[in-house]
Amino acid sequence: MSAPVTLPALKVLFSRQQIADRVAEIGRQIDRDYAGQSIVLLGVLKGAAIFLADLARNISIDCTFDFVAVSSYGKGQKTSGAVKLIKDVDQPIEGKHVIVVEDILDTGLTLDFLHKLFQQHQPRSLRIAALLDKPSRRMVKIEADYVGFKIPNQFVLGYGMDYAERFRNLPDICLMPPDYPE
Ligand code: IMP
Repeated sequence: MSAPVTLPALKVLFSRQQIADRVAEIGRQIDRDYAGQSIVLLGVLKGAAIFLADLARNISIDCTFDFVAVSSYGKGQKTSGAVKLIKDVDQPIEGKHVIVVEDILDTGLTLDFLHKLFQQHQPRSLRIAALLDKPSRRMVKIEADYVGFKIPNQFVLGYGMDYAERFRNLPDICLMPPDYPE
């Protein structure tokens, strides 16, 4: 068995309470915007899994889940620029109100790709909910309809977000230590 991994001391950017409060606000907003209608929450694996789980429990209107997966950053912090669909939706979204749920809107390449792809499926409406938004990193013009927090160009971990697949389980959103080994 390999030696236990010690987590570095991480600086908290948003605490679990701040996240819970903001996610509850977004849930209430979605309830108001789609009152009396049904929606599909379409999560982007794996980073958005925790956000979707919490957001869904703050939504009272009729709602179903689906998930897609795209090729990601891999092990580092740099994007290759190429986005590839690894897992498609399980149920058709044609004629439905769809909210794509994503952890971070960073360069925008992922959500731009997904938005264009899902538009071709002719949903009744298509919106984006991103927990975090890094506007200064944007490479393509795309905005989210629901944003948890806007942040500067910082690499973050926790609440679903990873570095080389680790740290997703942290309950707070933390800052990547500048001296963390690549
Ligand atoms: P985009 O295509 O550049 O907008 O990147 C979207 C994806 O990059 C997100 O869904 C995350 O998986 C990943 N990503 C971007 N910034 C961070 C970060 O600060 N921490 C962890 N993952 C990130």
